[in-house]
Amino acid sequence: MSSSKKIAIETFNLTQNFDELTAVNNVSFRIYEGEIVGILGPNGAGKTTTIRLITGLFQLENTSKVEIYSKDFTSNSKEAKRNFGIVPEVSNAYSDFTVWQNLKFSGSIYGISQTELKKRIMTLLERFELMNKIHSKTKSLSKGLKQRLNLCLALLHEPPILILDEPTSGLDPSSAKIVRDQILEFKREGKTILITTHNMQEAQQVCDRIFIMNQGKIIADESPDNLRKKFKPTSTLLFTIEGKLSLEQKTELESRFNLIEEQKDRFSIISNNPLEDISNLNDFSKQHEIKISTFRLTETSLEEVFIHLIENDVKSYRGDDV
Ligand SMILES: Nc1ncnc2c1ncn2[C@@H]1O[C@H](COP(=O)(O)OP(=O)(O)OP(=O)(O)O)[C@@H](O)[C@H]1O
Ligand SMILES: [Mg+2]
Repeated sequence: MSSSKKIAIETFNLTQNFDELTAVNNVSFRIYEGEIVGILGPNGAGKTTTIRLITGLFQLENTSKVEIYSKDFTSNSKEAKRNFGIVPEVSNAYSDFTVWQNLKFSGSIYGISQTELKKRIMTLLERFELMNKIHSKTKSLSKGLKQRLNLCLALLHEPPILILDEPTSGLDPSSAKIVRDQILEFKREGKTILITTHNMQEAQQVCDRIFIMNQGKIIADESPDNLRKKFKPTSTLLFTIEGKLSLEQKTELESRFNLIEEQKDRFSIISNNPLEDISNLNDFSKQHEIKISTFRLTETSLEEVFIHLIENDVKSYRGDDV
């Protein structure tokens, strides 16, 4: 990312302690205008706490600082907060209000004029296919519909920055797709987006950059492509054989390939050079007259990269060799 790009969010030594626990540990990063950045991490990694610190829900410790468009958050918090549209981990829509009432109430807080507010609400309901639910109580909405309402609420004051805490969590594939498509649409509109997710494919599909977070720290900050390239292996060869390998054959397979999994007749090989390994596997099967019944080559998923990183991080915490 070029340094001439405007910085939308910058954090300096973001730290949050809860008694003995350091939930966010000295985290510094920059998010540039127009970027979609994903924070990926296991439960309890500190993703939500990071978001709460950035958005002013938790008070910053003395040594921590947040800047929004290069302005100090704490001393300009009112202005800074108006830049954010937030979909929090726990929705702040009132369950006894209808969709319309929630949007109207939220809009009145921002001081948007009645005519303008009505126009914006209608546009958002149209965009998120919620028009037929306008007079439904929020508590009667399904999870997916509720999440779309949350997005409408976040967008009402037309903020340039969107902060979405697991916006697709618990949604079925088609509802998740609607949300993801909208996220990409927001990007086309020039918005800056920070999103947390557990879903690797989602991060791969929508993010320009991914922060991997574990135990309160960001342990990787890369583009999805770079993450995959950097953390070899790059491919997995999956195959099944007819019959069984002899002990000798198995030993040879293990010595010739990076065998990572074996289940009865199914094997997985991790490979940095799939073409060479496919040819070697072919030789091996001919040599031993082993019939390979199914074969599949897959690109190492971001999920594997993620697990690899987290495991190594945990090992280094324990002081093991990585
Ligand atoms: N208000 C709080 N008081 C005490 N501990 C907290 C509080 N909020 C979070 N924690 C702890 O801080 C750590 C980080 O929590 P956080 O909610 O930020 O994780 P997360 O990455 O969002 O996890 P998840 O994927 O489950 O949402 C956890 O160990 C959590 O129990
Ligand atoms: Mg969370």
